[in-house]
Amino acid sequence: MNKLSFQQQTAQNLATIEEHLKQYLPLEQGYQETIFSSMNYSLLAGGKRIRPLILLETYRAFCQDEPDEDVFCMMSALEMIHTSSLVHDDLPCMDNDQYRRGKYTTWYQYGDAIGKPFGQAIGVLCGDALLTYAFEIASKRLEASSKPRQLGKAIYLLAKKTGIYGMIGGQTLDVELTGQPMDAGQMEFIFRLKTGALLEASMMMGAVLAGADEKTVSLVESIAANIGKAFQIRDDILDVTSTTAQLGKPVHSDEKNQKTTYVTLYGLEQAKKDVDELTQDAIDTLQQLCGANTYLENLFLEMINRNK
Ligand code: IPE
Ligand code: IPE
Ligand code: MG
Ligand code: MG
Ligand code: MG
Repeated sequence: MNKLSFQQQTAQNLATIEEHLKQYLPLEQGYQETIFSSMNYSLLAGGKRIRPLILLETYRAFCQDEPDEDVFCMMSALEMIHTSSLVHDDLPCMDNDQYRRGKYTTWYQYGDAIGKPFGQAIGVLCGDALLTYAFEIASKRLEASSKPRQLGKAIYLLAKKTGIYGMIGGQTLDVELTGQPMDAGQMEFIFRLKTGALLEASMMMGAVLAGADEKTVSLVESIAANIGKAFQIRDDILDVTSTTAQLGKPVHSDEKNQKTTYVTLYGLEQAKKDVDELTQDAIDTLQQLCGANTYLENLFLEMINRNK
């Protein structure tokens, strides 16, 4: 069989991600139908699916076996948690945004079943629901898994990188320092946690499910940390250089919220330079581990050169 191009492989991977994610979606029925429809709305609104792509391809980089349901389940759980972080991030009490993934944000979207916008309370519950449901499907999978130890470790990593030592910890300082000056150390901390942590989880879970040893998993963590920082710098750059139509979310959201960003702290040119340097560092380490011109290498380059 011919080797697929990066684009062909990505198309195939994205189809796999959507297929499995859809299988895990709750049915929209019963008295609590609104929570189901808000979850499905936010999950199916699009999104680049970068985290499940990274998990899947990191698994493939370290394991010859075809990915099994453990892998697909953790890919779905990861995308649910990432989406939950966005649903909350967009709420009026946080970044107060009305567009995401080219559509209305969940709290702003009209809920057919209730005949009015989902609103803030459902927005809060939807984020909680996605987060909890992710761990529900992941822990349920333990029963059927043929490698419950590896899966258990992946679930622990996902919890840690999502919670107080990860994304939530980063978002905490991000909101606390909104409208206030921030020093380099605080910015580093915020980027590493609010964005880096879930990207670290993506790669580390792929490696753990593939049976990689501790040393490899820790190298993988450092690769993802660099990529995570580069990814958030790029996000801050796009907030000033892109358009809402292209990005699918509002530009100048950071300015509106008086956020200190990588661009306000270091300037656009330095920001671009640092994105390239961090990515090169990540790719150097990746090449030591996996060789040159792998799928992941191309994915990293695409992530930091993206326009949306
Ligand atoms: C947006 O993440 C939030 C950040 C961490 C910068 P993505 O850019 O991956 O958003 P989607 O999932 O494609 O919508
Ligand atoms: C949010 O950072 C990262 C999250 C953990 C959700 P931003 O607030 O910059 O993300 P966007 O720009 O709204 O996607
Ligand atoms: Mg934010
Ligand atoms: Mg935001
Ligand atoms: Mg942003």
